[in-house]
Amino acid sequence: MSSPDITEPRILVLASGNGSNLQALIEATNSRDFPGSIIAVGCNQPRAFALERAAQAAIETFVVDHTEFDTRPAFEAALKAHIDRHAPDLIVLAGFMRILTDDFVRHYHGKMLNIHPSLLPRYTGLNTHQRALDAGDAIHGVTVHFVTENLDGGPAVAQAEVLIAADDTVTTLTEKVRVKEHLLYPIVVRWFCEGRLHLDGDRPLFDGLPLETPTYLPDDAG
Ligand code: GRF
Repeated sequence: MSSPDITEPRILVLASGNGSNLQALIEATNSRDFPGSIIAVGCNQPRAFALERAAQAAIETFVVDHTEFDTRPAFEAALKAHIDRHAPDLIVLAGFMRILTDDFVRHYHGKMLNIHPSLLPRYTGLNTHQRALDAGDAIHGVTVHFVTENLDGGPAVAQAEVLIAADDTVTTLTEKVRVKEHLLYPIVVRWFCEGRLHLDGDRPLFDGLPLETPTYLPDDAG
C-alpha cells in the first residue's frame, strides 16, 4: 500500500462485525485516483472480522468495547477520544451496531455517514430484508445517509434498488443488497472526499445545490 497523502481527506471507519463494506472502501481508497485515505478503523467488538481486514490493509485499528462501560455516555466519551485523536474529516459507519446519543451525533454533524439496508424511510431499524419480504415488496435496496439525531432518519444521500424475486429469501436478498452496498458506499465517500457533498443544516448539498437523492436502479452497473 502506498503511504497516504496527508493532505487528502482522512476517513475513519467504525464497524462491529464482518466488515464487508469496510473491505469495499479499502479497495476503493487503494485506487490511485481516490481522493481520500482510511486512516483508522474502530470497533466496539474486539473479535470483529473488520479488525482483521484493517490489519491486512495495514490500517491502524482501535477497540472500544462497549461492555466495559457502565453507561452509553461513558462508552461514547472513550470512543470520541479515539476518534478525535485521528482528526478525521469523515466518519463512516459501516455496520457499526451501537445506537449513538444525540450529543455524540451532533459533535460530528455533517461529517458522519451511515449505510442502511433498506430504501429509507422504509424499514428503519433491524431485520429490514425480512420485513421487505413479509410486506410483499417488489423493490428493496440500500440507502447511504448523513447521520443526525434521527436514528436511520438522517438525510439520504443516495440509494440503490434491487428487485425482489418470488423465490428470494432473507439470505438471497441480503446478498443482492450487499452487492449494491459495496458499489454505493465508495461512490458517496468519493463525493464527500472530493468536496462535492456537504450537509447544510439538515439538507445535503451536491456541488452547492440541494441534492435530489440519486437512485441507482436494479439494472445499473452491478
Ligand atoms: C450492512 O448490511 C449495512 O447496510 C448495515 O450493516 C451491515 C454491515 O455489513 N449497516 P458488513 O459488516 O459491512 O459486512
